[in-house]
Amino acid sequence: MTSFTIIGTGNMGTAIGGILQDGGFDVRLVTHGETGKGPIGDVVVLAVPYSAVSSVLRAYAGHLDGKVVVDITNPIDVETFDSLVVPADSSSAAQIQRRLPSSTVLKAFNTTFAPTLKSKEVGGRPPTVLVAGDDDAAKGRLIEAVRAGGVDALDAGSLARARELEAMGFLQQALAAGEKVGWDGGFAVVR
Ligand SMILES: NC(=O)c1ccc[n+]([C@@H]2O[C@H](COP(=O)([O-])OP(=O)(O)OC[C@H]3O[C@@H](n4cnc5c(N)ncnc54)[C@H](OP(=O)(O)O)[C@@H]3O)[C@@H](O)[C@H]2O)c1
Repeated sequence: MTSFTIIGTGNMGTAIGGILQDGGFDVRLVTHGETGKGPIGDVVVLAVPYSAVSSVLRAYAGHLDGKVVVDITNPIDVETFDSLVVPADSSSAAQIQRRLPSSTVLKAFNTTFAPTLKSKEVGGRPPTVLVAGDDDAAKGRLIEAVRAGGVDALDAGSLARARELEAMGFLQQALAAGEKVGWDGGFAVVR
């Protein structure tokens, strides 16, 4: 069975860890102080601010080869809250994939607010975790794991779609910061 290591024990790390544990998976949550230490599972979730990703990748240098690395970040400019800090033709996930050529990078969880992942509900239905990546098998395993934990998940396409997911995440956060939607609301996917 797939084992998960979640780097970051904040709102998203604990929410994602809870879903995967509910799905019956082996999950290890890694605190800030433990980062870079201890064993890592088949799938590593980067549940840290975008600004911390570089130092986390440095801390695990060489140890992420062959692993699936899940980028959940919304790389928002925290000075202005008015743009993303990655180039418009790229994404945080694409940058991480370039930095980790021997890992399989997926983008996921960035369009679902933590409270909706904790309650497993948005607008009266299960939230849908959108997953983008170039490796169909890795994507399929993550989607199945999330569904097993009681939240819906959908294949959003290749890793190139991370750019659109990050734009969605940014817009959703702007709507919530502007008090137009609640932090327990946001975008839902209706099929
Ligand atoms: N919150 C949401 O609803 C939401 C939704 C979609 C995507 N996201 C994305 O999810 C990520 C995490 O957000 P969050 O809301 O969970 O943040 P959070 O509650 O602030 O948690 C962040 C976690 O990262 C750890 N951390 C910070 N810097 C680190 C470093 N250099 N090395 C190792 N660990 C470090 C923190 O540890 P310490 O507190 O001990 O420093 C904490 O455990 C962000 O990239 C955000 O854009 C969040």
